[in-house]
Amino acid sequence: MPKKDVRLAVLVSGGGSNLQAILDAQKSGQLSGVQVVLVLSSKGDAFALERARQAGIDTAVVERKAYATEEAAQAATLEKLVQARADVVSLAGYMRKLSAELVAHFRGRILNIHPALLPKFGGPGMYGKHVHEAVLAAGEKETGCTVHVVDEEYDHGPVLAQAKVPVLPKDTVDTLSARVLEQEHKLYPKILREFCEQL
Ligand code: GRF
Repeated sequence: MPKKDVRLAVLVSGGGSNLQAILDAQKSGQLSGVQVVLVLSSKGDAFALERARQAGIDTAVVERKAYATEEAAQAATLEKLVQARADVVSLAGYMRKLSAELVAHFRGRILNIHPALLPKFGGPGMYGKHVHEAVLAAGEKETGCTVHVVDEEYDHGPVLAQAKVPVLPKDTVDTLSARVLEQEHKLYPKILREFCEQL
């Protein structure tokens, strides 16, 4: 008997190029067995939401400012994930820290992609261009991206896979982030598929 599709929710806050890579992989059959059931954004104006709508995927917005506390916003986020009957949650440029309750509810079933070779260049403050700035400042010869399981600490859970790229002498934050992002878009759908297959 065929296994039921794994229901995947994607959490975003920004442009959503990784979300797009996931949606493209689904369209081309590379993510068979996985159904994207919800794209939830912590920002109402995130372009990622537009990408989801274009693909006909349900969207939700949970902005911190609409709630009295961070805890309340996270509780609303968890509620939406439960309502969507998500099996797996993938963070794709999601800029808020998940509550311990949310992590516990989906223990071992939340994945994140980080634009560096963890455990290097991870943790609080290491997001977006700050990561690539730090890599350049440290004079690293290579960097890359990491897909990992999310736990209660920033960029901390078990690493599932990494892809490496060289750091070139003339690199700027822009050229380096573009090189890393290209690898992110290949790695994340692949690892999501492998992860969902073994559930
Ligand atoms: C990516 O670099 C990802 O590694 C990090 O946030 C960025 C999100 O980019 N977690 P996008 O919104 O997927 O384009």
